[in-house]
Amino acid sequence: MLAIIGGSGLTQLSNLEVTHRRAVRTPYGEPSGAITFGTLLGAEVMFLARHGYGHTIPPHEVNYRANLWALKSEGATEIVSVASVGGIRSELGPGTMAVPDQILDYTWGRRSTYFEGGDVPVKHVDFTEPYSETLRGKLLAAAAAASEQVFDGGVYATTQGPRLETKAEIDRLERDGADMVGMTGMPEASLAREIDLPYATLAVVVNHAAGRGESARSIPFETIERMLHETLTRARRIIERLAVGG
Ligand code: HPA
Repeated sequence: MLAIIGGSGLTQLSNLEVTHRRAVRTPYGEPSGAITFGTLLGAEVMFLARHGYGHTIPPHEVNYRANLWALKSEGATEIVSVASVGGIRSELGPGTMAVPDQILDYTWGRRSTYFEGGDVPVKHVDFTEPYSETLRGKLLAAAAAASEQVFDGGVYATTQGPRLETKAEIDRLERDGADMVGMTGMPEASLAREIDLPYATLAVVVNHAAGRGESARSIPFETIERMLHETLTRARRIIERLAVGG
């Protein structure tokens, strides 16, 4: 079953017909909230709000291990995350969307692996291609079916947050090859890989990253709110097409 992890602004899917919710316990603690089960245009999906349904859990305190474990144990076979990001590359202005194909990880201090504690033999998972190419393809096809333009590819840099970056930090990310920046891409993607769950991200650009475009001097928060609202409506349409298979 397709599972959707909703990020900032996406604490629910408006067209989701909820059948039930389930609070799941995991060996890694509590997920961000109960898993919502339902149908999207008739297709069964499950949904989890990454920051909690009241948006109270900051990116560095999300229990990524519990979230993915809970979704898998409830029958998820593929995971699509919706994540708001700041745009670094000039094509990725506010209101655009992307399906990234690479990741950079600048986070620290997060519980980022299932292989600890000495109970399980360590597996060094292959992470050359961090996202599932198959699922990326399905997301891009769903976007085309929904007549939504989506940028194919790009490097998603994950910062620690919850503060936004300095201009110099964004300059560095750009030199490193980053096209967009968010706070939740890791360790979500690598944990999904560790438990063999195909994973892809629909990144919604809600602002120019620090020092770029209209964020040249500061981040305009009013624009972020408006962009989140407008663009997530379009992101939801893509997720609906994905759920029904194109
Ligand atoms: N930086 C980091 N994370 C973000 C941003 C940003 O500019 N916008 C949305 N999430």
